[in-house]
Amino acid sequence: MGRQIKKAVFPVAGLGTRFLPATKAMPKEMLTVVDRPAIQIVVDEAREAGIEHFIFVTGRNKGVIEDHFDKQYELEETLRQRGKIKELTLLQADLPGAGQTSFTRQQEPLGLGHAVWCARDLVGGEPFALLLPDVLVHAERGCLAQMMDVYNAHGGNIIAVEEVPRERIHNYGIVGVGEELDSAFRITGMVEKPTADEAPSNLMILGRYILQPEIFDVLSSQDPGSGGEIQITDAMISLMESQDFFGCRFEGRSYDCGDKIGFLTANVAFALGREDIGPNFLSALQDILKDQTS
Ligand code: UTP
Repeated sequence: MGRQIKKAVFPVAGLGTRFLPATKAMPKEMLTVVDRPAIQIVVDEAREAGIEHFIFVTGRNKGVIEDHFDKQYELEETLRQRGKIKELTLLQADLPGAGQTSFTRQQEPLGLGHAVWCARDLVGGEPFALLLPDVLVHAERGCLAQMMDVYNAHGGNIIAVEEVPRERIHNYGIVGVGEELDSAFRITGMVEKPTADEAPSNLMILGRYILQPEIFDVLSSQDPGSGGEIQITDAMISLMESQDFFGCRFEGRSYDCGDKIGFLTANVAFALGREDIGPNFLSALQDILKDQTS
């Protein structure tokens, strides 16, 4: 229905203050979940959904992200010499192809909306995917791939949503639910961090979006919102006046890795889901839990 989505934006310019001192010299997006940097897991999700161009909005101290998505000749040669062909093949498979990555800088962390706006020229006039690397989704089929189905059926702007317990509603953007469609619903409104009583539903916005390029026009003239930052939710609320927004209740579970508990829980969920280490990790966890409760 809509124009094909080929580009994805990954805002990675935040300071990661909640993970200091781990993030003093290393970007939080490089923190590992089991043995993969969080940013790699999110790039994998985008590739699974058919994304062909990966746009990173970086900042100071984020050069290692660029290196991560580059070839490491010495390492590859050493693996080859040692006959570690499986490791070499897996490493090469993780890399986007030549010319498929772009990096731009957000010189000051003025907010997520501002970070997205920094990608405007690289995105051009096309609809695009926006993935927050803070959020990891554990799912059989990637969250963005599921959103693409909704986009292909309905076009417009798509936002992934997930049920959130009442006591955590005030931490998230919450959507209003309108007409139910086959695999989605029409979004009637959005409220950033409402109280549980004011919230229009219990469906939170978690950090996966498909957006039309007009969002950049809105962001260009947008004033800073809460926390003095330019907020993407404020821009989406303005765009809703002229464009359709659909919610996608995907199958799977999200983990907010910007927060310590979410990050640790993601490690547990992803490790348990792995064929190679899952069973042994489960028995190790059970031993810890037994010690805790005895
Ligand atoms: P957060 O506000 O959770 O990230 O933004 P942060 O600022 O790095 O974390 P804390 O609160 O200090 O620990 C969510 C996402 O948006 C990006 C971040 O990198 C993160 O992926 N972001 C945020 C930007 O790229 N630029 C900004 O100005 C703000």
